[in-house]
Amino acid sequence: MKINTICCLGAGYVGGPTMALIAAKCPHLKVIVADLNERRIAAWNSDTLPVYEPDLDKVVAEARGRNLHFTTDIRGAIVEAEMVFVSVGTPTKSYGIGAGRAADLCYIESAARTIAEVSQGHKIIVEKSTIPVKTASAIKTILEANSSPSATFEVLSNPEFLAEGTAIEDLEDPDRILIGGENTPGGHLAVEALASIYANWVPRERIITTNLWSSELSKIVANAFLSQRISSINSISALCEATGADVKEVARAIGMDQRIGPRFLRASVGFGGSCFQKDLLNLVYLCESFHLPEVAEYWSQVVKINDWQKSRFVGRIVRTLFNTVTNKRIAVLGFAFKKDTNDTRETAAINVCRDLLRERARIAVYDPQVTADGIRQELLAAGVEPALLDSHLEICPDAYAASEGAHALAVLTEWDEFAALDFPRIHTLMVKPAFVFDGRAILPHDELQVLGFECFTIGKGL
Ligand code: UDX
Ligand code: ADP
Repeated sequence: MKINTICCLGAGYVGGPTMALIAAKCPHLKVIVADLNERRIAAWNSDTLPVYEPDLDKVVAEARGRNLHFTTDIRGAIVEAEMVFVSVGTPTKSYGIGAGRAADLCYIESAARTIAEVSQGHKIIVEKSTIPVKTASAIKTILEANSSPSATFEVLSNPEFLAEGTAIEDLEDPDRILIGGENTPGGHLAVEALASIYANWVPRERIITTNLWSSELSKIVANAFLSQRISSINSISALCEATGADVKEVARAIGMDQRIGPRFLRASVGFGGSCFQKDLLNLVYLCESFHLPEVAEYWSQVVKINDWQKSRFVGRIVRTLFNTVTNKRIAVLGFAFKKDTNDTRETAAINVCRDLLRERARIAVYDPQVTADGIRQELLAAGVEPALLDSHLEICPDAYAASEGAHALAVLTEWDEFAALDFPRIHTLMVKPAFVFDGRAILPHDELQVLGFECFTIGKGL
């Protein structure tokens, strides 16, 4: 099947960068990205993209207007495309059955209904969003029950494994491309049509194909394993702090065992991001639904340790600051869930700032990419009263402004610039004793100690 035009529903952190890269690598293909959100589409069509990713602007500049188009005309985009990617959000349900655990599929369902409504002829529908196992069959049922008799569909699962902050690198040189499809002649043709798009820049041996359910499940399991490694090392960070071991040394020593490997062993104030917690909760819900309570309990511990790690960090700050932070200014460095992104979904900073505000600390936040409005909205959504935000939250233009008059400095995101700050200047600006809580273990601690800072480092202690 020859594909000339593809479209993607959802111009978010996944849909936008993925389609931009496909367009850049496949100039012969017309790529249309469609979203309901007018502001988002306007931003994709401007010089200030709605997603911050290193080198994304270059990729977009290369293809936009040539074969990459951003539009709010969702129906028009579907009509024109032979292949439709679905990359709409799938947040954790906040209401009803499965609240707090199951994925909310309302955006997926509404996208499927729109596709059904306007489609004629044959189309390949590609699920990109992370979704619970067996969603493909639900999508297919909706499509077939609501479309015109002339319309036929193949549904594929093609989960995205890119990590934010390295999206372009990950898309250009993926460890693997996973495509799940039905074991029928039509399914095989659809899988091959998608594989041949990726084959424009990905070696064939890295494009693997499976059945639909294996593909859907693999995405959730990959994220569960990755986040499990972080909760494992974070649980050990607490033991290191208690015993005088250094978690970085432990991670290095175990990571040199080739069976364990060195990556994803950085202890932190807790993992965040739109995927890890959501997919773990999804996995737990799935196991419960299939009457596997022991498996559900096993994976739910990964989330519990992560929550504990965040509250443990706040507890440490409060205890160290003589058991009270009331009206003390605390400089918070970093709000994004990791460096090199402006994404704040599920960031550990939300819990840390919320809990410090509830202790009546005055918070001065600086993040190089997150907007003041973004920070405020996250804290409001986390239940912090607006009046408390007005009186106790300040968003600062840089780390020095945040440090002025602060009793403590807390590093929550591992932005490179934080390790290279002018610490003698910061020490002068702060109230003494000047405390540092390094939730990412990235600061030059020897230098800080010489300057007279009192340093706490995650996984190392005071
Ligand atoms: C993750 C998966 O890596 C990716 O494959 C999937 O497609 C989406 O989910 P992402 O959430 O963008 O990607 O970033 P990732 O680099 O995995 O980091 C997630 C969180 O874990 C961040 O908060 C990060 O700071 C934290 N982390 C990561 C650690 O605390 N320690 C580590 O060693 C690695
Ligand atoms: P992700 O991180 O998975 O990319 P985002 O929340 O960043 O998730 O992006 C999802 C996007 O999908 C949002 O911009 C939202 O407006 C868009 N969206 C939701 N439903 C539809 C739909 N039916 N058609 C097109 N776009 C949609």
